[in-house]
Amino acid sequence: MSSKVKRTYASRSDKPKPCFSSPPSTLSCPLSAPSIKRKRLFGDSQSQVDASAKRVKSSKEKPRQKTLKQLHFCIDQSIVRTCAICKLSYTKGAEDDEDLHRAHCARVQRGMEWGKEEERDKAGAGNVKEIVEVVKLKDGKKGRIICVDATVGGKIGTKLSTLLETINVTLSASTLSPEALRASKAYLFLLPAITPNKEKIVGCIFAQRIEKAMAVAPLSSSVPENVDAIPSSRSLLTMNDTTGLFCYPELLPTALGISRIFVTSTQRRQGIASSLLSAAAQTAVHGCVLDPKDGQIAFSQTTGDGIALMRNWGQGGIRIYDEDNCQMYL
Ligand SMILES: CC(C)(COP(=O)(O)OP(=O)(O)OC[C@H]1O[C@@H](n2cnc3c(N)ncnc32)[C@H](O)[C@@H]1OP(=O)(O)O)[C@@H](O)C(=O)NCCC(=O)NCCS
Ligand SMILES: [Zn+2]
Repeated sequence: MSSKVKRTYASRSDKPKPCFSSPPSTLSCPLSAPSIKRKRLFGDSQSQVDASAKRVKSSKEKPRQKTLKQLHFCIDQSIVRTCAICKLSYTKGAEDDEDLHRAHCARVQRGMEWGKEEERDKAGAGNVKEIVEVVKLKDGKKGRIICVDATVGGKIGTKLSTLLETINVTLSASTLSPEALRASKAYLFLLPAITPNKEKIVGCIFAQRIEKAMAVAPLSSSVPENVDAIPSSRSLLTMNDTTGLFCYPELLPTALGISRIFVTSTQRRQGIASSLLSAAAQTAVHGCVLDPKDGQIAFSQTTGDGIALMRNWGQGGIRIYDEDNCQMYL
């Protein structure tokens, strides 16, 4: 497990790798492709070339039509842009790519809509529960928290898949396996939208039952100048060296894993992520309220924002788990 965890977390830089909204263009660059079939040799004059071309022409009754080739100018690579807000890389000028970026960027900033159709579907789906009726945010706005099985179908299922994809792109994370999804619940934070009778999904976490996770080393022992120079820190595993996140390698029994956590960029630092985490801690395991300070909850992703949240909400008790390699209860 330790090697896997290292691959998942230690290799992740704080800044997500650029994500492309579409595969890179396969168009070849004319500068590198041979564009003249017959190389003009040193000493060939243009008239000699023309004359030989004419001779070839006159020797045949019907000259074969030359295959025309489309030339593409390859001026430079600057048409690939990386958006400062959503960090997505896309090709400027490519309509489909720009549309994809626009839609993704809007979801990252303002979230997705939760309207009448979802409410109707909710009644039918039967597995959508309201967990907290009113949550007051720092700016005074009031929202609510609902919970849904991660494998829910219908309109809500389609919406949840798009939301999960948006989160994965934002975190540069891989898709959750079908087993992980079956063991997961999604908690959604809904805030009234400007349009009457509509809400926006402005925050989301995916929580799943897990078996084991690693404890995070306290800050004082987690940022040694040279890890190898201090005997007691040799056994620590580096999870995120830019933010100084180190773990003890022992696997400890842990009840709940948070595989994804996301809040729209316009609503951060209002307490949305913390309230989603508290809702999951209280309700994810039936009949048992989990305490993050006692190491009962673990995160699988470790971005800089996530670590700050983890330290604040979990008060140093949040653990780290490997989402690709955990035992799950169904
Ligand atoms: C991480 C994230 C979910 C936090 O959501 P949030 O709703 O802003 O978090 P909260 O408002 O509940 O934050 C609670 C506390 O955590 C700490 N915290 C959260 N985000 C922080 C940040 N970016 N920088 C510093 N501290 C932060 C603060 O102590 C904060 O309290 P304060 O605002 O009173 O100072 C959000 O920034 C996000 O979606 N980021 C992009 C996706 C991501 O990185 N996910 C984490 C994967 S592990
Ligand atoms: Zn963007």
